[in-house]
Amino acid sequence: MQPFAYNAPATRVIFGSGTRARLADEVRRLSCRRALLLSTAPQRGEADALAADLGALAAGVFAEAAMHTPVDVTARAVAQARALDADCVVAIGGGSATGLGKAIALHTDLPQIVLPTTYAGSEATAILGQTEGGRKTTLRNAKVQPEVIIYDVDLTLTLPPQQSAVSGLNAIAHAVEALYAHDRNPVTSLIAGEAIRRFAQSLPKLMAAAGDRDARSDALYAAWLCGCCLNAVSMGLHHKLCHTLGGMFDLPHAETHAVILPHAVAYNTPAAADAMQHIALALGATDASAGLFDLAHRLARRPRLPRWECKHRTSTARRRLLSKRPIQIHGRSRCRRFERCSTTRCTACGQCLHRAAGRPRMRDFDEHNITRAVIDSLAQTGDARLKTVMTSLVRHLHDFVRDVEISFEEWSAAIDFLTRTGQMCSDKRQEFILLSDTLGVSMLVDAINHRMPEGATETTVLGPFFVAAAPELPFGADISGGIEGEKLSVNGVVCASDGRPLAEATVHVWHADDDGYYDVQQADLQSLAMRARFRTDRDGRFAFTSIMPAFYPIPHDGPVGEMLEALGRHPYRPAHVHFMIAAEGYETLITHIFDAESPYLDSDAVFGVKNSLIAPFPRDDRSGKVQRGLSYRFGLKPLPNAAQLV
Ligand code: BEZ
Ligand code: FE
Repeated sequence: MQPFAYNAPATRVIFGSGTRARLADEVRRLSCRRALLLSTAPQRGEADALAADLGALAAGVFAEAAMHTPVDVTARAVAQARALDADCVVAIGGGSATGLGKAIALHTDLPQIVLPTTYAGSEATAILGQTEGGRKTTLRNAKVQPEVIIYDVDLTLTLPPQQSAVSGLNAIAHAVEALYAHDRNPVTSLIAGEAIRRFAQSLPKLMAAAGDRDARSDALYAAWLCGCCLNAVSMGLHHKLCHTLGGMFDLPHAETHAVILPHAVAYNTPAAADAMQHIALALGATDASAGLFDLAHRLARRPRLPRWECKHRTSTARRRLLSKRPIQIHGRSRCRRFERCSTTRCTACGQCLHRAAGRPRMRDFDEHNITRAVIDSLAQTGDARLKTVMTSLVRHLHDFVRDVEISFEEWSAAIDFLTRTGQMCSDKRQEFILLSDTLGVSMLVDAINHRMPEGATETTVLGPFFVAAAPELPFGADISGGIEGEKLSVNGVVCASDGRPLAEATVHVWHADDDGYYDVQQADLQSLAMRARFRTDRDGRFAFTSIMPAFYPIPHDGPVGEMLEALGRHPYRPAHVHFMIAAEGYETLITHIFDAESPYLDSDAVFGVKNSLIAPFPRDDRSGKVQRGLSYRFGLKPLPNAAQLV
């Protein structure tokens, strides 16, 4: 680890809900007896309420705090503090009230207590910005660092969502720049990452529900952390850009930060890749600038700087000035040099600065960066699972296209194939399932979702020929429906995976005839055949007779058949009987039992064969008529919380 210096400011912080009730104790703790309350005019009511709470500890209220701390306002406030013999100041509000408290402290050394109502974060710093005759100067002095901050989440509940968003983005800029500051240290980096993370999670929630106390609490905590960053390290390119532009065009402070930050970060990414990774991680994005861009747009719904654009269009002189004004950055800072804006050449100021400050986000894609861009575009997907699935899909799909360097003709043939696959689908034919089956996807999904315990029968594909409305027949019934073939007798037992027989289980069976056709494929058949539903007896048994099924081709007169042919694959499945077995408290078992003597066991077109599902169908000639038999014990997997049901 690099050596570092870290100065923790001696500020006392009280954080929570309803903490403003502790103000009187804090005034006394500072050994003070006469507090002067400070606020802006619109927040006078809140200052008066605090004065009432303080009772005799309140010396008075000064409610003229203004933006950018004008020195004449400070002079009047100092005079009032002296006239009232105030021995501390209590500022309630955002940056204006806090700034006034700091300015008074600079002149009088009075201790300060701050109750923030926004996410400005200036209460956590020893920095004071003041204006005199329209000129703004900034100083850093330990005298202006507030002694006590009382964070009361309740005071922020009414901060309008849009103001919360812009104020939060402004604060995030401090944490972002702290991560690549030349004088950063491990503590500030820790604080910065946590601040970004908390804001990225809480601000969108505040957009939806401004009174969400948990989100408000996270945001206020994050605001303090951002203020700590600003206090501890130097700001870089982003702040320099904002100050230069803000001063020149008189731009609204927080909005300027919200607009510039993603672009400044994009521009600076090559100079501080590790910091950008940290930022991306904290945002839950794959790229820092894209993550900030998405967050800003989601919160501020396209943050804009209308005055800036307007002034730019009407003032060539200012444009020229901007293009010549150098933006100076600390020599050791990890910021890319950015000396001149090319604004003189453009017509729309906002666009120009965006272009100058950072790479445009949704342009100039090539085979190396398009995957990242598409994945970044998923950053705001609300459903976390959908985001995971789509991110992986995009990554693999792009990798596939890159891997095979697909040609236009091939891609167009693929689209045509998928179109025809869709067109082939009807209520009787599902070509997409056949495609999934023949590419092994159905079995893969099955394998992932049916990891079976010892004693449970393995699963395989359902196939397209199941009919839910098959008739329920009694134990031992003939289900052949009169169709001719070699006789088959089936005896099954349904058990739990621990071997206990399961009574009253529902058993669906279906199979093809000895030409390899299911009943539903035979237009001339008037009724269902070679299928039925049974209920197991108290020993878990069921039995039926039918005819021996043959191996058969899956439907191959459509696009999937074409594909198999093009691939030199046959469409056949080995002979089998289908079973679907359901019992309360158990996972429904979908499986087949394959005839051990059938061809194609080793090349099933849909990859459905498993060794445990291959069984002998022995011949029995005792009756004089050759008959085939099958005996099989099926094991069912218990559902996760079903122990109490059995
Ligand atoms: C079947 O076994 O019925 C089947 C399975 C997958 C595709 C086509 C048919
Ligand atoms: Fe089948």
